[in-house]
Amino acid sequence: MFNFSKLGIPVIQAPMAGGVNTPRLASEVSNAGGVGSFGFSYSTPQKISEDLAATRALTNGPINANFFIFSPVDLPTQAIQEKALEALKNLPIEGEYALAMPQAPFYPDLEEQLKPVWEHCPEILTFHFGIPSPSIVARAHALGISVGMTATSLKEAATAQKAGADFIVAQGIEAGGHRGIFDPDEKDEKLTALALTKQLVSGCSIPIVTAGAIMDGTDIANALRSGAIAAQLGTAFLCCDESGATFVHKEYVLKHPSRGSVFTRGFSGRPARGINNEFIRLMESKMVLPFPIQNTLTASLRQMGVKTNNGEYQSLWAGQDYSRARSLSAKNLMLALKEELLIAIG
Ligand SMILES: Cc1cc2nc3c(=O)[nH]c(=O)nc-3n(C[C@H](O)[C@H](O)[C@H](O)COP(=O)(O)O)c2cc1C
Repeated sequence: MFNFSKLGIPVIQAPMAGGVNTPRLASEVSNAGGVGSFGFSYSTPQKISEDLAATRALTNGPINANFFIFSPVDLPTQAIQEKALEALKNLPIEGEYALAMPQAPFYPDLEEQLKPVWEHCPEILTFHFGIPSPSIVARAHALGISVGMTATSLKEAATAQKAGADFIVAQGIEAGGHRGIFDPDEKDEKLTALALTKQLVSGCSIPIVTAGAIMDGTDIANALRSGAIAAQLGTAFLCCDESGATFVHKEYVLKHPSRGSVFTRGFSGRPARGINNEFIRLMESKMVLPFPIQNTLTASLRQMGVKTNNGEYQSLWAGQDYSRARSLSAKNLMLALKEELLIAIG
């Protein structure tokens, strides 16, 4: 089991799919005493292999490889498909974007994605949206890799613990990016990160990592006081020099504090928290296809948003407290977090 108490600072830089994680970001965090992560969601085995190798060349510290647990999904009826396409037509965006109904397979094969993980053996392997098969957990353990799973409720955490998780990432409602809830159509308890952490610490026998609106060392201290073994920070790292977030994504985080962040299913079909923009508003009452079919359907639109530096049509995932994000190098952010944490714990 990965020993969190041996970390120089109990911080996991969150896995952030969509190009935010880079070998430089992960290795700088790891070299500074934390855990550097990759969100490999849709990545090809080749890209996963390249990223893990490039990071390992830059650090001997801990690395976390993170994957989505996709649920089987089918295209809905023709009428629903047409409504979903209609919602995305003629949006007020500069540039052409192609709209084509995605075809199966709708998501990557996890077994194939994991091949480079078994080869490169990062210290930690984590999963979002559900639990992996028993054979995956067994293989990770046989290789000495610790397994973490996201939970948004005590029920999900208990399932993860039973499935062999070595630790749980307690994701609060404040967290940026996709909500890790196993079934997005079930009732969501919407617990804050600290409330959830306290519940899981008393209801589970494995370590708990807190995630959601942890932006400085004082927040980390509060997570530790709630019983967490470490904190997972995503938004706090978005504007680091080494982050691969788009220029516009960083600009919105740093310069649009009053926009606020909200949940939307418009981009991917699953609830995810991002900075409020025109696309989110336009999609409010529109038909959205199931995850991740909607994600593939909106891909060309989002790419056009990136190409034209148009933040209104990019998924600007960010947590509730994004206005407190700092634009620093990862090393300096880690130093600041450590200093603040030491002050906060006295
Ligand atoms: C841009 C972005 C992308 C994310 N992608 C992933 C991901 O691929 N896998 C995952 O487990 N969590 C992902 N998350 C959620 C984080 O793991 C974590 O729960 C969240 O960042 C914590 O809240 P904070 O952003 O307020 O720090 C993402 C978060 C952000 C901001």
